[in-house]
Amino acid sequence: MPEGIRIAVLASGEGTNLQAIMDSCAGREIPGEVVVVVSNKPGAHALWRARRAGVPAILLDHREFPTRETFEARLAETLRAYSVDLVCLAGWLRILGPAFVRQFAGRIMNIHPSLLPLFGGRRMYGERVHEAVLSAGMKISGCTVHFVDETPDGGPIILQAVARVQEDDTPSSLGARIAEEEHRLYPLAIHLFAEGRLLIEGRKVGIVEARKRESVASEVSR
Ligand code: GRF
Repeated sequence: MPEGIRIAVLASGEGTNLQAIMDSCAGREIPGEVVVVVSNKPGAHALWRARRAGVPAILLDHREFPTRETFEARLAETLRAYSVDLVCLAGWLRILGPAFVRQFAGRIMNIHPSLLPLFGGRRMYGERVHEAVLSAGMKISGCTVHFVDETPDGGPIILQAVARVQEDDTPSSLGARIAEEEHRLYPLAIHLFAEGRLLIEGRKVGIVEARKRESVASEVSR
């Protein structure tokens, strides 16, 4: 794939991770491009960021669909129309059902602002995550990029980064420190995917060295 992978980003909110991904594509740290951004929230800032970057920005308001299935069918159709190789959830606040997840198995990633499997799952998003971390008296937190399977926040972990909890942290100060890590970690995970270096083996994701992968490829082509 000389021009790199085709990435879709699904975002319901601010879109700072979307921005980090688009910037990393523009700087060629990710060999690929964001070809479409979809939001389920009218007015999401992420849509504005996409348009500003010249990326097609599509609103699919889930409230306008009679069922979850019809909404997800339209979403899948949209992603197929853009021939996407990878779907990145970045602050996407809709759980995706099994039929959708199966269609894109091994090709959907999510980022979560905690060290999964801690502080994840249904209703754990935004500042609630950091409130829970602080109430539990944790000394560290961080973020996780993982493949999406049928369990919310439960798919195989790709990369994690740690952020220290400080004595005087509020949910918002901790969240801001973790966000800096997110903006570094998500592009890195996508970079590894684009280079074909992520191997899903059950619950684990192996990261293959670039050199090893090349030698495997040349063995195969002989
Ligand atoms: C991030 O904290 C991400 O981990 C979580 O939702 C937030 C999205 O922020 N899934 P943004 O919209 O990318 O700014």
